[in-house]
Amino acid sequence: MTAPLLAIRDLRTWFHTRQGVVKAVDGVDLDVMPGECLGVVGESGSGKSVTFLSVLGLVKPPGRVEAGRVIFGGRDLAKLPPDELRALRGRDIAITLQDALTALNPALRVEEQIVETILAHDRDLPPGRGRSAAARAKALEMLRLVGIPDAERRMHDYPHQFSGGMRQRVMITIALACRPKLLIADEPTTALDVTVQAQVLALIARMRRALGMSVVLISHNLGVVARYCDRIALMYAGQVVETGPTRAVIAAPYHPYTQGLLRSMPLLSDPDRPIQPIDGQVPDLIDLEPECRFLPRCPRAAEICRQPVPLLPMGDARLAAVDPAADSNEGARISARLAAVDPAADPNEGARISARLAAVDPAADPNEGARISARLARCVRAAA
Ligand SMILES: Nc1ncnc2c1ncn2[C@@H]1O[C@H](COP(=O)(O)OP(=O)(O)O)[C@@H](O)[C@H]1O
Ligand code: SF4
Ligand SMILES: [Mg+2]
Repeated sequence: MTAPLLAIRDLRTWFHTRQGVVKAVDGVDLDVMPGECLGVVGESGSGKSVTFLSVLGLVKPPGRVEAGRVIFGGRDLAKLPPDELRALRGRDIAITLQDALTALNPALRVEEQIVETILAHDRDLPPGRGRSAAARAKALEMLRLVGIPDAERRMHDYPHQFSGGMRQRVMITIALACRPKLLIADEPTTALDVTVQAQVLALIARMRRALGMSVVLISHNLGVVARYCDRIALMYAGQVVETGPTRAVIAAPYHPYTQGLLRSMPLLSDPDRPIQPIDGQVPDLIDLEPECRFLPRCPRAAEICRQPVPLLPMGDARLAAVDPAADSNEGARISARLAAVDPAADPNEGARISARLAAVDPAADPNEGARISARLARCVRAAA
């Protein structure tokens, strides 16, 4: 049985502000399997960054993790002593932050920042005098690997002397210097031009293969994530609204928000299709009603949406979750959506999904299967 490398369960992170309690993350469940790339997508302000800062214990007041569990490599991170959690950050889990300029130390040359990380985490360095020189050699090798031209000279520069794309590469180098099991890349390409974006993403994909690590790629851009990730999770207003294998979600999205995001993107296959942005904005996360959070923007909203909407399993074995009496076409629509995924396009897709389903031991947690299974969605009322 393959257990998730990272399992997030019912995570709630709230900010206690003068205006009220901002429920930035409110009941998030996510799994990252060993070696996979999970894409986390959602408009700005949907709780993506706060979710993963919470995983690492990096949320600052007035933010507080109110509830939930974060299990990494079988260990409950909330129960780790602070020094062990600190050691785990950087060594086993590395994060690259949205803004490379503020995340890097402006007063230290790039070389020093990378060498510091290597010295702190790399167990393969020789002891004694040669240690420092070996760390420097590794830093140079990594800077070359991430594609910094003239690395030998540039490593003596300060962060502000690099362009945006090169700074992202430096931050990725620092994150990867300790060969983590999990890299969390938070908007690694925002503010970069399209060519550099593609280079940085290709770099992350290459390093993922080379190091056999898992990656969480956070982005507001569904297109970016769809291209690079095995599975995706869509976040809206502090909750996951839909998750599943990328290909299946894109081919047949269940949730009206996922559908809206897809309609708001240009398609290479149909460049003349009109682009329709989603009307409205992510709601203020203070004093939220228990109703569906997408209700004010949803073209399919109905009275019933005023009730809380749980994240439901949508795998084939779970079609029963949909009440066929409510809509006689629903069953047919869901099968059509499942059929819309063309397994011929990727011969490994079927195997990957079954492997994931088989990997689940139902005895361990009766909901576990549902969580890791092919699809989860908070709403199935959208038409395919
Ligand atoms: N320091 C803070 N004080 C109050 N609210 C905050 C703070 N930081 C984040 N938030 C709230 O958390 C929400 C989610 O933020 P974030 O996770 O950064 O969104 P994303 O990464 O999806 O763009 C924001 O919309 C904001 O309301
Ligand atoms: S149809 Fe679904 S997404 Fe739309 S308001 Fe109702 S529960 Fe929310
Ligand atoms: Mg963010």
